Amino acid sequence: MFSRSLRNALLGAGTLLGLLTTTVHSLGSTCSTPLTHGSAAAGDPFWRQNIAHQGIAAFNSNPSGYQVFRNVKDFGAIGDGNADDTAAINAAISSGSRCGEGCDSTTTAPAIVYFPSGSYKVSTPLIALYQTQLIGDARNPPTLLAAPSFSGIALIGKFYNSTTHYADPYLGDNWQYYTNQNNFFRSVRNFVIDLRQVSGSATGIHWQVSQATSLMNIVFQMSTAAGNQHQGIFMENGSGGFLGDLVINGGNIGATFGNQQFTVRNVTFNNPINAIWNWGWTFQGVTINNAQVGFDLSIGDTSSTGNQGVGAEAIIDAVVTNTPIFVRSSIPSNGHLQGSIVLNNIKLTNVPIAVGVKNGATVLAGGSMTIDSWAQGNVFKGTNSAGTFTQGNIASIPKAPAVLDSAGRIFGKSHPQYADYSPSDFVSVRSHGAKGDGHTDDTAALQAIFAQYAGCKIIFFDAGTYIVSNTINIPAEITDMIFTTKGPAAGAIIVEWNVHDPAGQQGAAGAWDTHLIIGGIAGSGLQAAQCPSSGSGGNSCFADYLGLHLTSGSSAYIEGMWVWLADHDLDTPGSAQITLYSGRGVLSESQGPVWLIGTASEHHVNYQYFLRGAANHYIGLAQTETPYFQPNPVPPSPFIPSTNVDPATLGVGAAWALTVQNAQNILVFGAGFYSFFNNYNTACQGTQNCQQQILNLDSVSTISIYSLNTVDAISQISVNANAVISGSSNPNGFSNTVTAWTRN
Ligand SMILES: *[C@@H]1O[C@H](CO)[C@@H](O)[C@H](O)[C@H]1NC(C)=O
Ligand SMILES: *[C@@H]1O[C@H](CO)[C@@H](O)[C@H](O)[C@H]1NC(C)=O
Ligand SMILES: *[C@@H]1O[C@H](CO)[C@@H](O)[C@H](O)[C@H]1NC(C)=O
Repeated sequence: MFSRSLRNALLGAGTLLGLLTTTVHSLGSTCSTPLTHGSAAAGDPFWRQNIAHQGIAAFNSNPSGYQVFRNVKDFGAIGDGNADDTAAINAAISSGSRCGEGCDSTTTAPAIVYFPSGSYKVSTPLIALYQTQLIGDARNPPTLLAAPSFSGIALIGKFYNSTTHYADPYLGDNWQYYTNQNNFFRSVRNFVIDLRQVSGSATGIHWQVSQATSLMNIVFQMSTAAGNQHQGIFMENGSGGFLGDLVINGGNIGATFGNQQFTVRNVTFNNPINAIWNWGWTFQGVTINNAQVGFDLSIGDTSSTGNQGVGAEAIIDAVVTNTPIFVRSSIPSNGHLQGSIVLNNIKLTNVPIAVGVKNGATVLAGGSMTIDSWAQGNVFKGTNSAGTFTQGNIASIPKAPAVLDSAGRIFGKSHPQYADYSPSDFVSVRSHGAKGDGHTDDTAALQAIFAQYAGCKIIFFDAGTYIVSNTINIPAEITDMIFTTKGPAAGAIIVEWNVHDPAGQQGAAGAWDTHLIIGGIAGSGLQAAQCPSSGSGGNSCFADYLGLHLTSGSSAYIEGMWVWLADHDLDTPGSAQITLYSGRGVLSESQGPVWLIGTASEHHVNYQYFLRGAANHYIGLAQTETPYFQPNPVPPSPFIPSTNVDPATLGVGAAWALTVQNAQNILVFGAGFYSFFNNYNTACQGTQNCQQQILNLDSVSTISIYSLNTVDAISQISVNANAVISGSSNPNGFSNTVTAWTRN
């Protein structure tokens, strides 16, 4: 596909658990027939339909009988737009012993539910059980057609435990299959969702999800009639997540977005958006046409226990046309902080009000114009601990040219799905000697496959768990992979990223929907049995040294990545808390360009993110949590470093969410840095002092930070480990928000 070769390597140490299907696109060929283009013919289906389906769930109680890949037509779905396919699709999803009612989570029963092209009539919700990917034909996406009689919370995504109560989303935790903050590992891709036959209310997707989830390449078709009651996406809770590449047509509400953190990229709304509550969201590349209101923000109050409304919206590179109001808040901002907003590069055409208040004042007049940089909220500079409440233009948000596309927007690249390729363009690692059964050492087989086929084939990991005992070098484009260690592995660097885009090929080295899930899962040996929360597991519970390392010569486009040291065991009923130790989350020394779009890093001892001498990064939104056991012990304990610890990495009593040393041209556009525990005790939440300091900068790095939300940290920003900005000056519901911080 690419003309010049790359020196590329991505190192896996310990265990590589490919729990879902994985494709690794090869670059840097030494093979004789480089893959330059796909060979699918015009009428061919998507390669996923006919490629050999050899995935297994290695730790299922019946690995040889359990079916990972399910084609809905094999379960009786007709797809002719007439027959009611609801029961057949739900049978395809639920076949085998899956994780539904009474099961909070598991990693031993994954499913890929595939829909060939066609039109599938649906009359009640499709119940997408835990760890389900719903994937349509990417060449000719299938339609999910709501029957005129459709009833239920949404076409996709009923997670409630009683069929008689599914229509009411507010029945409380007990009514739900899954804890909303633990609803991981799901994706919906390549569909048209059509509600137009329903005359009453209907919703496309109910999406109450957490990390390691995605929506992508979906078109919603809804009524354009006045007074219609259609809604594309309904999200009322959760702890996400990434979604992108959606087109939402018609409807009363395009999407209701309530979640504590989310990144949205490349979504077109041809109707209103209503965001009900959230702590912090980043919207990149949103297009809004012909809506009444673009963003309709329901604002709460600023007390941490009060009515939580929208916390902080960070919107970059939006294009808004023929819409009376771009952003509207339910009440005015209170002259202190309430409803933080950051706008950058917003192109308005016939939008009379850019920012307004419902039944109230115009805060920012619109028209046909471009808003460069504008903020509502507390704006800080340098080491001045006093912010200025601002409702107005701010200095232009600095962006490294290397992270921009030719139109001057933040560059974006969709998750590659290889729709133009046919099964003959792929090699399956399972067909070439790798077992993926969770106990065979697959290192030699995988090394041989990469050596032979890199650059000539797309290398396909059938679902499975592939044990790796030595470094494997992986080419430059990775999707749908999970990396982990089989513990203990105190010295492991799980993924070392050494690859750089060729000139003129932004985003050629990248990872999409690829996660580091460290411990807490079947086969890891780092579970409740070995590592209970008491800490009695001791030395057996060291999971890694470092999760992801972007080396100085690398570039990286990373979209949808969760670097999670597990805090609970996904495969033990009751989601038992566990105590594991990971040294570090994400270290970047890259000179860029680096895009970290919708990434998270949680529970690592020293830091979640460290930018050391790094340059030219765009980061939005980044989410972190501090280890629950800290400050008992304080970093770097319980690790015993063999050399002096870099002072920039040493937190004050607890890990840094982000620490920055000698870095240049860094933009953080949206962050959610949380600290919920003090030695496993949550009493500190009431007093908002679970951690002293959480974000550390040196005095020389050129970095600017917008829409920074922290929870239960006393200080929000420190310089050289001296607290500068106090959270108590920025109350904004559950979080404290710094709307903007710049060096000068
Ligand atoms: C379903 O919800 C009811 C009502 O809250 C609860 O009593 C019951 O335990 C729930 N069932 C499961 C399996 O969670
Ligand atoms: C979900 O969000 C709604 C609206 O904020 C809230 O009333 C409800 O309690 C939440 N449910 C859960 C399970 O957190
Ligand atoms: C945006 O999404 C559309 C599909 O909705 C896709 O065709 C397009 O390539 C995407 N653009 C980018 C920059 O990701």
